[in-house]
Amino acid sequence: MRDPVLTPALLRALNGESLSPPPVWLMRQAGRYLPEYREVRASAGGFLDLCHSPDKATEVTLQPIRRYGFDAAILFSDILVVPDALGQKVTFAEGEGPRLNPLRKAEDLSVLSKIGFQDKVRTVWRTVEQLRQALDPSVALIGFAGSPWTVATYMVEGRGSKDYAVVKKMAYGDPGLFQAIIDILVEASFDYLIGQIDHGAQVIQLFDSWAGVLPETEFERWVIAPTKILVSRLKAARPEIKIIGFPKGAGVLAEAYALETGIDGISLDSSQSLSWAVKTLSPRFTLQGNLDPILLVTGGPALERAVDRILETTKGVPFIFNLGHGIVPETPPENVKALMERVRR
Ligand code: CP3
Repeated sequence: MRDPVLTPALLRALNGESLSPPPVWLMRQAGRYLPEYREVRASAGGFLDLCHSPDKATEVTLQPIRRYGFDAAILFSDILVVPDALGQKVTFAEGEGPRLNPLRKAEDLSVLSKIGFQDKVRTVWRTVEQLRQALDPSVALIGFAGSPWTVATYMVEGRGSKDYAVVKKMAYGDPGLFQAIIDILVEASFDYLIGQIDHGAQVIQLFDSWAGVLPETEFERWVIAPTKILVSRLKAARPEIKIIGFPKGAGVLAEAYALETGIDGISLDSSQSLSWAVKTLSPRFTLQGNLDPILLVTGGPALERAVDRILETTKGVPFIFNLGHGIVPETPPENVKALMERVRR
């Protein structure tokens, strides 16, 4: 048994302990809602330059820890670092989101190469290393990657999408080609995450933001299957690692996702029923979530009621307080402070 005093609360919760108050961190806890982030961001040049600058990325990761005392720090980077490092250049146009030269046919995959991948992501590993040195041992360090399906949507669509029609047409109509992209992503994500673990990440979160757009059989094939391979390979190579999955929008398919992928914790989006998750997934899986990020913009009594309800519903089960999706830029920083006080009251 590890000494509970020396084990970060986040790891204790992922080991199946129910803690009161629960550990808390927020998706996108570093970002544009913080003036100190905007200042560093402005000095970095492009957004991906910020992700590849270890000193600046370390600084913006630590900003919300200093301000609010979260139980975990999440490495500052982006899920699109992986396609960029594979050779499919990613740009972030001001206020427009990511842009990539889309992969539409077999020949397009020739831009992807594992040669140079490790050299390109080494800066991110250095950030992880600097973070682990800077953080208090009570604060857990979370590394992450996008899940293969969600990263592939950007690689095939070339940008964010409303209907995912282009990537679905490839997955349904030319599954062999789409599988080749998924296989490359499983391989690259494995190397990328092993590097993060070996440089000090104690927990890995897999972001599958667009898991919810697929019908059941396709969800099995493109969300569950590659995630299961990635999780089993990571756990075989590094048995200590704890993994949280975030299959956003998966609805009742979250149950199959949790049971089949081998994750330790499941992050629930705001549309999920926590009481359903407590009955169905707990205590085998540690639950995480699921405050609506817009309640954090709203603040006041609406925020307090929602926080209380989440704490009430998850009493006695292994739980990590979080949002159902990332903090939005218009969030008033003082509402995050109020949230923390309420959770830890
Ligand atoms: O949570 C954290 O504090 C860690 C950092 C983090 C970022 N992106 C920083 C970021 C994490 C974990 C991500 C994950 C990510 N990136 C996801 C999965 C989670 C989710 O939100 O669904 C996705 C889909 C992306 C891809 C991405 N990155 C998009 C679509 C955009 C543009 C939209 C936007 O919010 O601007 C980004 C940019 C991005 N990633 C920003 C930040 C702080 C804003 C860019 C800026 O500062 O100019």
